[in-house]
Amino acid sequence: MAPQKTATATQTWDKRGWRAYPRIQMPDYPDQAALNAVEAQLAKFPPLVFAGEARRLKASLAEVAAGRSFLLQGGDCAESFSEFSADNIRDTFKVMLQMAIVLTWGAQLPVVKVGRMAGQFAKPRSTATETIGAHELPSYRGDIINGFDFTPEARIPDPQRMLAAYTQAAASLNLLRAFSTGGYADIHRVQSWISDFTGGEEAARYRDIADRISDAMAFMAAAGVTSATAHGLGTVDFYTSHEALLLEYEEALARIDSTTGLPVAGSGHMIWIGDRTRQIDGAHVEFARGVQNPIGLKCGPSISDSDLKTLIWKLNPENEPGRLTLIARFGAGLVGDHLPRLIKAVQAEGANVVWSCDPMHGNTIKSASGYKTRPFESVLREVREFFAVHRDEGTIPGGVHFEMTGKDVTECTGGVRAVTDEDLSDRYHTACDPRLNASQSLELAFLVAEELRRRRVAGAQQAKAS
Ligand code: PEP
Ligand code: CO
Repeated sequence: MAPQKTATATQTWDKRGWRAYPRIQMPDYPDQAALNAVEAQLAKFPPLVFAGEARRLKASLAEVAAGRSFLLQGGDCAESFSEFSADNIRDTFKVMLQMAIVLTWGAQLPVVKVGRMAGQFAKPRSTATETIGAHELPSYRGDIINGFDFTPEARIPDPQRMLAAYTQAAASLNLLRAFSTGGYADIHRVQSWISDFTGGEEAARYRDIADRISDAMAFMAAAGVTSATAHGLGTVDFYTSHEALLLEYEEALARIDSTTGLPVAGSGHMIWIGDRTRQIDGAHVEFARGVQNPIGLKCGPSISDSDLKTLIWKLNPENEPGRLTLIARFGAGLVGDHLPRLIKAVQAEGANVVWSCDPMHGNTIKSASGYKTRPFESVLREVREFFAVHRDEGTIPGGVHFEMTGKDVTECTGGVRAVTDEDLSDRYHTACDPRLNASQSLELAFLVAEELRRRRVAGAQQAKAS
């Protein structure tokens, strides 16, 4: 057993402690006084989420770890200031509701819904600079850090952007809470969530499920069960998450939870550590280990078994179920090379984790037309491989993690309503990585539902045979 397991996460932790560790993928702000002023201001603002909510999500993720629920995490690669609107939030929320319905129907499991929303602003980049023609400038790092425009001024890190991001996150969360509990997400409205942007086969399949749910609801209403009498029918729990990359922002929003006396990240319900910033002695791991929120850890092909073991005990020393979600992102064709060894490492430690599949970040390519894209076929293939490995290993495929939007964008190629290389320029709106559109997201949900249904049927057969 690893020695770290005996120390509790917060014994020797301070929210400023990360500053003593190597920091990468974070900006060097040119104006230190301006940065200090923004940090002081943010530290006085209310947290965006409350510790009790983060604990509730952790309890739900413990159910996922045990195979009794399924995790659906999704949203923009990078939220942006210019794409901020009620319609965009509603459309992403709506597609997630649709996907959750498809998954619940197929898996007969509750779905834990977590948006990459209300805080997903900071981006790690593969190169420090970007060159267009003869001009080289610092890379765009997300709207919370610098500007997307290819000008020297826009690319200067500006701490004021943190205040704008906080305001946008607060307004987004406010609307998400209203949608979740104010009637929009009432299951009796299942028919109305069909997106304007989905058509064809997957829309027809969704309508079929929605019809059957409506029939069931009519039956239940006749039997006296309505949204007024059964709380779970009228509302949903919807959580927020983002990569905790910009640690000045995270530190300023960290708080002590008055109920437990433990630190909590106030910036979102769940935070994750990216594949580029998961160094065992790096600043990002140091920050995340001390807050009580559920933590995600992206695991790409370069993660070693021994680093994973060390990270597991650093981030979850008490082996608390629901605390740690390992988000596998290897790329289609590579899952079989890496996931089995990592599953074995987790098993050797007796560690309690949620396994989730991010089929996006290992499948990014440059298209012939020059756009960064992801072939939908590769995305589907990685999901299938993820389920197949878990089937072989006898472990639990707990969830999926997508970059998606409720809009009719053309950023990933393929899908039933095929987007071609040439189509990419039509509606390519992402500030960073290419996202699945509403129709591709729903198609993917059907694939995942089918995998989960197979699992359920196989489980039932096994139970019968034994
Ligand atoms: C992301 O989720 O947007 C991301 C950058 O992922 P990863 O750290 O897995 O590359
Ligand atoms: Co991304």
